[in-house]
Amino acid sequence: MRPRILMISSEVESLARTGGLGDVVDALSLALAERGAQVMVVTPLYGVTRLPRATHRWPGEVVVRWGWGPADVRHGGVVELETSRFDSGGSRRVCLLDDPGLFGRAGIYGDAAGAFGDNDLRFAVMSRGALEIAARAWDGGPDVIHAHDWHATFAVLYAKLVMGEHWANKPVVFTIHNLAFQGVLDDGALDRLHLPRVAYVPEILRHEGNVNLMKGATALADRITTVSPTYAREILTPEFGFGLDLHLRAHQSKLVGIINGIDETLFDPRTDVALAAQYDLAGAGLGRAECKDTLAAEVGLDAGAGPLFGAVSRLTWQKGIDLLIPLLGDIVERGGRVLLVGQGDADIEAELAAAARRFPGRVAVRIAFDPPLSRRVYSGVDFFFVPSRFEPCGLTQMYAMRYGAIPIVTDVGGLHDTVEPITSERGTGRGTGTRTGTGLVAPWADVEALKKVTLAAFDLHADGPAMAAARASAMRKSFSWAAPAADYAALYRSVT
Ligand code: GLC
Repeated sequence: MRPRILMISSEVESLARTGGLGDVVDALSLALAERGAQVMVVTPLYGVTRLPRATHRWPGEVVVRWGWGPADVRHGGVVELETSRFDSGGSRRVCLLDDPGLFGRAGIYGDAAGAFGDNDLRFAVMSRGALEIAARAWDGGPDVIHAHDWHATFAVLYAKLVMGEHWANKPVVFTIHNLAFQGVLDDGALDRLHLPRVAYVPEILRHEGNVNLMKGATALADRITTVSPTYAREILTPEFGFGLDLHLRAHQSKLVGIINGIDETLFDPRTDVALAAQYDLAGAGLGRAECKDTLAAEVGLDAGAGPLFGAVSRLTWQKGIDLLIPLLGDIVERGGRVLLVGQGDADIEAELAAAARRFPGRVAVRIAFDPPLSRRVYSGVDFFFVPSRFEPCGLTQMYAMRYGAIPIVTDVGGLHDTVEPITSERGTGRGTGTRTGTGLVAPWADVEALKKVTLAAFDLHADGPAMAAARASAMRKSFSWAAPAADYAALYRSVT
């Protein structure tokens, strides 16, 4: 049997994304199709979506119900990309729901004026629309519904609660990419958004006096997954559970952590045209030296022999980039340089910009979401910071390792699961090659702990053979989607 999987996500890489969710939905759907599944991904057609040239529009409209009233429906169009087909017989289709009134705007979740005020309605329509689209595409609908993050929680709720027995019997997998965003609405949302009041109970939708969509979807889904085994354990604790730890513990038996992969074809230093030089493991010493010099010049950093540190990140509390600011003086004093790339919270952006002004030529900041520059960072820095306070999986540390940068991470979530600590023993001596591991790991996210590993990075950098060995271990690691996709396929089998 070739299972028909419907994936629903607010972000899909190459079309529209702000972070790792888009990368994962794109790469996972392709990996599943490569293994033989029939996958359909549904996402909105935003004003900012970059459509490829070859698309076609479905004839007619899909009618999407979003409220209880007879007139509470929207009429959307469907734009479909070219299907990706695989030798296995599997295929992946991508359908975009076109409702310009809701999605034809200059942002995914908000624009220059802030978050959109109607995101609940927008993603309710995305979710319900996805079910309608799949029902039109496939006789009998999908075999499995796989919904991602709070935006797609509506698909779980509508299928299980309001669309009748046919949909209520469909197996649902719900993936948590980030428990910090739960979709918390006032109870008026129930009547507005076609959610039944009978489900407004503490076991399902009610949480601390509000509607909590993440709670409802995790309560009703047949399986809950999250994006690393360590994060799956962490979210059961008060420290990382964002108020839902007790609820998730009650559903622990259906929770599993499956580590994300990365698209190793898209992210490959041997072929990446964004880089100043392409290189493989054997040529990494020379190739990366050229990438480093070119990158420093590109962002206005002084040339120099000291280590270059970098980060590419959404600038939010989660990511801990603010914790690096007190370290900049120490790094510069020891002859290091730093490049930070990202965008997000206005106050973190301003702090970083101010830090760059304090250390001209030594600290550079680019407030941007710039994928080609990100790749030049992975290929050009010696050390790549991911100092997260929590991290469901994290992808940049894997991209960095693949490009031969040594990650400096905190010991949380997917960082714990993907970075092997480099033994920190000093004086291993040149050429002894006794150090193992792929990155430097701080036990937790605070300035002191990060300072300690940053100083260890200077030691490592000064030991050429040890540095080369660490780089080789990092580049040799495989983060392919093959194993995780097999885990998802087994999970789908277990519910169908
Ligand atoms: C979210 C998480 C990140 C994860 C990504 C993809 O952005 O914060 O840790 O890697 O989703 O699953």
